[in-house]
Amino acid sequence: MSNEKFKGQAGEVFWESPANIALVKYWGKYPGQLPMNPSLSFTLRESVVRIRMKYAPAGNGPGGLHSFALNGQPNDKFRARISKYIDSMKAHYAFLNDFGLDIESQSTFPHSAGIASSAAAFSALAMALGSIENELAGKTGMGSDFLQKASFASRLGSGSACRSVYGGFTVWGKSEHLLGSSDDFAVKLADESIHPAFRNLQDAVLIVDDSEKKVSSTAGHALMNGHDFRESRIAQSEKNLCSMLHALKTGDEDLFVNIVENEALTLHGLMMSSRPGYILIKPGTIALIEKIRDFRQQHTINICFTLDAGPNIHLVYLDKDAHRVRPFIQQELLPMCKNRRWMDDGVGAGPKKK
Ligand code: PMV
Repeated sequence: MSNEKFKGQAGEVFWESPANIALVKYWGKYPGQLPMNPSLSFTLRESVVRIRMKYAPAGNGPGGLHSFALNGQPNDKFRARISKYIDSMKAHYAFLNDFGLDIESQSTFPHSAGIASSAAAFSALAMALGSIENELAGKTGMGSDFLQKASFASRLGSGSACRSVYGGFTVWGKSEHLLGSSDDFAVKLADESIHPAFRNLQDAVLIVDDSEKKVSSTAGHALMNGHDFRESRIAQSEKNLCSMLHALKTGDEDLFVNIVENEALTLHGLMMSSRPGYILIKPGTIALIEKIRDFRQQHTINICFTLDAGPNIHLVYLDKDAHRVRPFIQQELLPMCKNRRWMDDGVGAGPKKK
């Protein structure tokens, strides 16, 4: 691709892409951002990153990232990470050799607080790169090839981002339990694989602490390399994926709750038993977990919690139970959250082009 071919072509694309929450957790990776174990998540509806990507021929200068702003402000830390990512994407999106990008990013939730902001951001970036590639080639389609490439490209930015390219439920990582699953990109679970009871799952994200976490996910993944429980974790994730696929298909609520909480506690158990071990949950996290478990026992409603790599609780419940769970959130859980802060989220439809 040469500058001549694209002379004068400039434009912009605008994408909104969501975070996702894993029910079976990805934890540990191989070089090339390949997962140590398969994971399963659902894509969120409200926790999104919006990206405006302007592109213009770079002329005689180098292609790549020219400017970056986060929530209206320049941000050097993110700029450096995104610039590196865009350079690495030149091998996959050839136009980047000849074009400069100006990127403005906005998010609806706190960064680096264990809510998968990087998943939303990198999936938005990959969708934007794909649609610029389409525009320059005069194509309009965003079919399965487009999405698969976007998932592949998102993964190279942040592993879990590859699952945000699709709405609903997705699996990333090759597993004998799912035909077509791959380490290179995520695949969407077909609607008929999800019992109607689970299709509209709700997720109340309860903020215990929104300060930047002390140990990054990158460092956490690396500690899985020599982890004492590494092999048993790989086996456990396969077993839990198999059970979760079964629970989702058959509508088995008890099994669902059992696996979701087992995965959440395992993730943090793996962090605590790393060498060196570390703790991301806070006393407020434990207090919320106890409250949620008590409510489940007393009311026989299948609510459950999960955790990302941080102290905040994702309270997962079925929409049929919303009328009973929501007063519980308002009256009992919000007083336990930092500044009563929460996000009223749930299963979403995936990235949107604006
Ligand atoms: O995508 P990363 O490298 O930020 O890793 C995220 C891993 C977890 O969020 C803790 C689990 C998961 O599967 O999303």
